[in-house]
Parts: sequence; structure tokens; C-alpha cells
Amino acid sequence: MPEFKTARGMRDFLPKEAATMRYVEAITRELAGLYGFQEIITPIIESYELLAAKSGEEIRQRMYTFEDLGGRKLGLRPEFTASIARLMATTLRNEPKPLRLYCVGSLYRYDEPQFGRFREFWQSNFELIGSTRPEADAEILALTNDLLKRVGLQNYWFKIGHVGIVRGILGAEDVGEENQNKIMQLLDKKQWADALTLAKNLKVSDQCIATLKKIFEIKGKNSDRVIEEIKSAVVRYEKAMFAVDNLGEILELLKTGGVEFDMSIEAGFARGLEYYTGMIYEIYVPEMDIALGGGGRYDRLIELFGGEPTPATGIAHGIDRITLAMEKQQTPPLIRTQKRVMVIFIGEELKSEALRIASMLRTAGVSAELEVMGRAVTRALQDADRRGIKQAVILGPKEMEKGEVILRDMEKREQHTIKKQYLIKEIEKRTPHSA
Ligand code: HAM
Repeated sequence: MPEFKTARGMRDFLPKEAATMRYVEAITRELAGLYGFQEIITPIIESYELLAAKSGEEIRQRMYTFEDLGGRKLGLRPEFTASIARLMATTLRNEPKPLRLYCVGSLYRYDEPQFGRFREFWQSNFELIGSTRPEADAEILALTNDLLKRVGLQNYWFKIGHVGIVRGILGAEDVGEENQNKIMQLLDKKQWADALTLAKNLKVSDQCIATLKKIFEIKGKNSDRVIEEIKSAVVRYEKAMFAVDNLGEILELLKTGGVEFDMSIEAGFARGLEYYTGMIYEIYVPEMDIALGGGGRYDRLIELFGGEPTPATGIAHGIDRITLAMEKQQTPPLIRTQKRVMVIFIGEELKSEALRIASMLRTAGVSAELEVMGRAVTRALQDADRRGIKQAVILGPKEMEKGEVILRDMEKREQHTIKKQYLIKEIEKRTPHSA
């Protein structure tokens, strides 16, 4: 037999890692509640056509695709947004707006495995559907800011842009959508020179090239100043002006609304996905050069999938990468440990009673592990100690006759004989408050 391993790019999450992932997930769920988002669960497998439609060349090429036994061309989802847009175009078509929906789950991309880049990874994904207004974009950013704060990250920052700036310029020069997408893909990969060459080859005006060049260089932390700079660069391009105004309005709202975070506004910033129409953003920490999350406004995707024209904005948080950033910044998850007790019995005839007591403890919310290896008390206690269990209940024939059990404190190495009916109270009394 060969030695079995996980497939390349796939990982096992051992208990500690799994607990950290679930911790971040739990916080995203808490925030979903606080911001009024409702969970939906969509399938991991969707039709290839749906997933490929607007995901962008990069993701399209990295999709896991296959034919099922019925000859259907399918794919493993590389993101959630396509599935949510499908729902909006079909089942949820007539739902009153706005709709706030979220999903948590695993996604699949055939990326080259490296630090923070996996072929199976996890996202919490939030979509606010039905509003074109800056308030909606601001809500998504506020929620994300709260998430990063709550998991304890520091020095994180948002890279912010608006696809309407570059698209507005190119559109005015009659560059069609396909070529615009190609230019945006190059910008996403920071290949600014190649993007300019491609634009030149498309015979855009010299003024357009000069404007793009300027745009690719504009970035900064001070939103008022950067917005003014972009405005003066695109003053001849009406649609690009609308985009900057919109971006400025959202940033102003965040500021006046008290949603504060570090940011870098970059006029030539683009994202790989093709469906964005408005403000876009990604999250970074100084210790990592990969994004912890990303999103933006996509006002035309739902109608492209056959739905009503429906504006929407959303974000996906990369749960794996958030846990990596927590590790780098040494902000361990605050995982609440349960009261844990080991139940050990002396002599075969106490087996049933041990099972009964373990059951009684669980009913009272105490995690109880029954000794199942038939070990002597000392061996069983050593094992409990090794695994960090703080208390043991020992059932011996002498005590049982009097309706009593032994409760052992593993840390203090002392034990008391107590009446069975006081066991739960006693365990609670002896459990440290944080545990
Ligand atoms: P995305 O930028 O493709 O956006 O992915 C969002 C986040 O998922 C990334 O920032 C990253 O944290 C994580 N991620 C992506 N690929 C990998 C990978 N190979 N390994 C580990 N983590 C990864 C979207 O998926 C959009 N659907 C976001 C969105 C929602 N836009 C609007 N609504």
C-alpha cells in the first residue's frame, strides 16, 4: 500500500487549528447577527457556466471542473458571489430589498500552494443586495473593520479603489468590455507597464495614455487629498468623475460616521474578478503580502444572470489567512474551555454507574470523558493530566456504598470524598472562572 497523503494543496485541520478556524468563523457569525445578515447555504458544486461567467480569467483557469455521470459540466465553487447572484436572479428574485445574506464555507481554486495560498480554503462572505447608496458600501466596510478588531488584529489596512475610474477612461475611448477586462487583469497583477502597452495597441488617444499613467501613480492615505488628485487627473472623463465622486462620498461617510481604519487609496487598483462596477477593497497586514479579504460593488451581475437589475455590494473574508495573520501578530484566539472531567471507576461492577454519572454531568453541561481503556486509576489520572483535564471523578466500591464519589483536583493533587448529589455543584465551584 502507498503511504496516503492529503492531495496537493489540501490540508487537515488538527484540533488546535480547527478550533482557531472555528473561532474566527464564530466571530463572523456574531457580526452577521449584529449587522442583520442572514445565513444561506449554497452547494459546493455548481454548473461550470455559472461559475465561469464573470469570475475573471485568473479564477476561470484555476477552477476544478469535471463532468458528472450525467454528462453535465460542473465545477467546485471558487467563490460564493456567483451562487448568491444565481439565487437573486431566480428563487429570491421577488424578495423585498435590501437583502443581507452571508455564507461560510470552503472554496476551491487550483492555485500554486504556498504560504497562505491553498487549493481548499474558507471564507465568510457577506452580500448586501438592493442598494446603490454609499451607506451600503460603508456597512460592509464597517462590518469587516469590526471583524478584524474583534479577532485582535493590529495595523491592518484597507487597499481601496474604484473600478469606475479606469473603466470610465477606457469606455470614453471606445475600448470594449473584453479589452477593458484584459487591462484590469494586468492591473490586478500590478503590471502597469503592460497595461499601458495594451492600451496603446488599442489605439487610444495620447491624452488617455497620459491620464492612465498619472492614475496608476496616484495613491495615498489621506482620502481628501487623493480624491482631489484623482479628480484633477480625470477631469475630462465624465464617467470616471462620477466614480471618483462616489468613492469620495463613501470615504466621507465612513469618516463622519466614525468608522476608522488605515487605508491606502490607489486609483489604479483592480481586482481579478470581472463583475465589479464600483468601489473595491482588499485587506492587508504588514506581516503578509497577500490579502486577508476582498470585495466590492457589483451592480450588474444579477441582471447578467437573468435577474432584475439589482445593485449589490459585498466582501469575502479569507478565514485561513486571518488565522495566519493572528499567528503572525500573536493574537491567540480566546477559546472558551469547557469544564472537563474524567470519570474513572474501580472494578468492573461500577461500569454502569460510571456511565450514569458521566451522563448526569453532561446533562449539567460538564464535559465528561469516561475511562474506556480499562486502566488502573493512576494510569488513567496520568493520561487525564497529560491532556489538561483538571478534575477527575473516581468511583470506588467503598464510597459507592455510601452514595459518595471521589473528586480529584488534578492541579492541586488533592481529593475529597463527596455525596453524589453535590458533585455538580462541587465541580462548578472548583472550576476556574475563565474555564
Ligand atoms: P477574492 O479576492 O477572490 O474575492 O477572495 C477573497 C479572499 O479569499 C482573499 O482575499 C483571500 O483572503 C481568500 N482567498 C482567495 N484565494 C485563496 C487561496 N487560494 N487560499 C487561501 N485564501 C484564499 C472573492 O472571492 C469575492 N467573491 C469577494 C466578494 C464578495 N466580492 C463581492 N462580494
